[in-house]
Amino acid sequence: EDKVSVGLLGLGVVGSGVIHLIEDHQEKLAHQLGCKVEVVKALVRNMEKARDIDVDESILTTNSDEVLENPDIDLVIEVMGGIDHTKEYILKAFSNKKHVVSANKDLVAVHGPELQKTAVKNNCDFYYEASVAGGIPILRGINEGLSSDHIQKIMGIVNGTTNFILTKMDEEGVSYEDALAEAQRLGFAEADPTSDVEGLDAARKMAILGRLAFSTPVDLQDVVIEGIHGIDLTDLRYASQLGYTMKLIGFANFFDHELEVSVEPTLLAKNHPLASVKNEYNAVYVYGEAVGETMFYGPGAGSLPTATAILSDVVAAIKAMRLGVSGNQSNDMQFPKTLRPKEK
Ligand code: NDP
Ligand code: HSE
Repeated sequence: EDKVSVGLLGLGVVGSGVIHLIEDHQEKLAHQLGCKVEVVKALVRNMEKARDIDVDESILTTNSDEVLENPDIDLVIEVMGGIDHTKEYILKAFSNKKHVVSANKDLVAVHGPELQKTAVKNNCDFYYEASVAGGIPILRGINEGLSSDHIQKIMGIVNGTTNFILTKMDEEGVSYEDALAEAQRLGFAEADPTSDVEGLDAARKMAILGRLAFSTPVDLQDVVIEGIHGIDLTDLRYASQLGYTMKLIGFANFFDHELEVSVEPTLLAKNHPLASVKNEYNAVYVYGEAVGETMFYGPGAGSLPTATAILSDVVAAIKAMRLGVSGNQSNDMQFPKTLRPKEK
């Protein structure tokens, strides 16, 4: 039987969603691709851990080589998180001619261009749709849908955890700590939620969006970053009395020949379109010179929404593989612009 074998690096919130979706959508995938897609190995840290999904224990391993050196595996899905060891694993996957799909914005924001180049050198593809805004196909929107236009401005809510916390505090008076604990329980937060609440996760996503939309390398050092950890219920109550809602907003503006990228808590009038984006939902407003205003909206975190983005990359990778062409996602760095350094 014709089959593409997949190896997972990580089987947590997102990895479980990927297995669930591959099984649930098997018929659709077979129809789309003309083959079966099967997860044959999954790297985990702890073999004994209780998991949200029923898997055959024989697919679990703590030895990364059982995925990365496995000659049966054509495609690796990286959903374990972290930067250094994941980079090493992905480079090893490329050197073994395996295509890679990743949800890891921490890694892609810093090493994306290098990984992309290494993929190309090895005739492999590297996809990372799930790294920004969970289930919203925003990278395809920018790389494909809007590729013919000159994008001038991006503004968005790109972190589900902080949007969830702000919504719960604003609308239900839940404390910051309780709202964060609930976001963690629901699987929206990072393993260490500091990067969510301090704005770094959103900054990493804005760096990826900025790089792809403006063909400009974005160094995180040059991104102005402020999180929501200093905001309390009183701030939100006063804002509400004045007709405003607080949101953590990412900006990437191309102005006066320079790109500026920032992430900051921002007061929005209650009738602003981004003010109605609630809980873990994200929305990205993109302004293009010819197209004008566009808005992408959907769940920005969570197991199945994120798995949907990953599976769309899996489908793209397998189609490209079968056609013998490169499906590499980004058209970045073609017309580099200048990034304005942060004022120190
Ligand atoms: P989890 O913490 O739920 O899962 C991580 C998985 O990776 C676990 O199965 C863990 O093993 C395994 N793992 C971690 N480190 C190692 C290691 N050193 N060696 C072997 N296995 C390891 O994370 P998520 O599923 O939430 O997130 C995964 C990735 O997806 C991250 O990059 C995250 O930023 C990204 N992402 C997450 C979203 C979400 O909504 N959660 C949305 C979009 C992207 P074990 O199970 O044994 O502990
Ligand atoms: N922790 C991230 C968030 C996961 O809350 O948006 C999705 O990237």
